[in-house]
Amino acid sequence: MSEPINLVVFISGNGSNLQAIIDAIECGQLNARIQAVISDEADAYGLARAELHDITGVVVDHRNYNNRNEFDQALLQNVNQFNPDYIVLAGFMRMLDPDFVEAYQNRIFNIHPSILPNYKGLNTHRRVLENREKEHGVSIHLVTAALDDGPILLQGRYPVEQDDKVEDLQYKGHELEHRMYPALLQWISQGDMVILDNGIVFQNRPINQPVSFK
Ligand code: GAR
Repeated sequence: MSEPINLVVFISGNGSNLQAIIDAIECGQLNARIQAVISDEADAYGLARAELHDITGVVVDHRNYNNRNEFDQALLQNVNQFNPDYIVLAGFMRMLDPDFVEAYQNRIFNIHPSILPNYKGLNTHRRVLENREKEHGVSIHLVTAALDDGPILLQGRYPVEQDDKVEDLQYKGHELEHRMYPALLQWISQGDMVILDNGIVFQNRPINQPVSFK
């Protein structure tokens, strides 16, 4: 087997996507190593998940910095210690500034609970229900300095039923997310998806080939 890809995962809260990635690694579905989990919130539950699996947890609390630039510089210094192949944003609720993005250009992924470019930003489920959308979903994309922007790498969709509430969409979305992130990372690890330095993405896996996550 080839070398695992090295990841640093950024979180702000619960960390269920982090857990899905940890589980996929531990059961041999994902050939990756999580070097560290970095949180901008000291009480993020995802840090406890990391600790349970002996993964280094680092807190870079945005409240300790005067402005966004100083915070991003501190984040960058912390990530650079690990020199990861990729940075995985998994429920990280802050935008990264252009210097940070440039330092890891085309090597930062984000997962977002909508079918981008629709419903960027917060409260996607509530807005989708207000607009009576019939379909909703999840996107994984390369990160740029703009909010929830950048080339889309993978999308998953699910139907919105008439009596669905925010919690129902949250549940359906998470269910998809927890399969999508490990799968995408494994495609990258095994070279089924190749991202060039200029952001061009090659997908070797035929798009209509069913993906098995289990
Ligand atoms: C996920 O649903 C993710 O898509 C969303 O935060 C949640 C984190 O859940 N991210 C964003 O909204 C980013 N714009 P988790 O902490 O349980 O993984």
